[in-house]
Amino acid sequence: MEEREISQAVIRRLPRYYRYLGELIEENVERISSNELSGRMQVTASQIRQDLNNFGGFGQQGYGYNVRYLYTEIAKILGLDVNHNMVIIGAGNLGQALANYGSFERRGFIVKGMFDVNPKLAGTVVRGIEIRMMDELQSFMEKNDIDIAVLTIPKTTAFDVASLLVENGVRAIWNFAHTDLKLPENVLVENVHLSESLMRLSYNLSRYNKEHNE
Ligand code: NAI
Repeated sequence: MEEREISQAVIRRLPRYYRYLGELIEENVERISSNELSGRMQVTASQIRQDLNNFGGFGQQGYGYNVRYLYTEIAKILGLDVNHNMVIIGAGNLGQALANYGSFERRGFIVKGMFDVNPKLAGTVVRGIEIRMMDELQSFMEKNDIDIAVLTIPKTTAFDVASLLVENGVRAIWNFAHTDLKLPENVLVENVHLSESLMRLSYNLSRYNKEHNE
């Protein structure tokens, strides 16, 4: 497929298409029209056509989309056709919860190691992954081909730890620490703030309550 620049807005929507297409495959659906997909996803059919046209040639008039082909192509665009090795830094509640979640691996995200500074955690094994101390990080990174680091540490240490990871070859950070990391441009950062999502829910709830109580 021809490489084209795809807007970030479309990229943000792709994981959702990917999830729905995965469900269709589980239901043995082989093809689907933009109208049917629209009904399931609560996105307009024209938005779907516009988004998927970005990749050219996926849909055919009167036939719809070939579900498995579209699923595979979106996986390639999202870089899911190759494995990504990850380390989790901060083996507290959140770090261990993420390590315990086996489904990332099914998508090709392999947790290779987990690190902390708390000596009480040293040697603890979570779903087969041993918690190591930070002084082992450098040699671990030299031996393992890590491309993503997950930060589940307090915000006060996040920048220093992120810089150390970058020095050791990490190019992408999945950041859960409550701070927006400013790192060199060639380091990719995806910030995840669950509380921001909860605040959006809170806003919608209070707006709903106002509208229905007036
Ligand atoms: P926690 O206190 O259970 O775990 C933090 C772990 O980080 C501890 O084991 C601690 O020893 C370790 N740590 C501290 N400094 C470190 C360093 N320099 N290097 C390596 N490990 C280090 O906290 P929890 O509940 O797991 O949360 C982790 C962080 O994620 C917190 O900062 C919290 O505010 C944040 N958080 C973010 C969410 C989000 O949606 N972005 C949701 C929940 C928590």
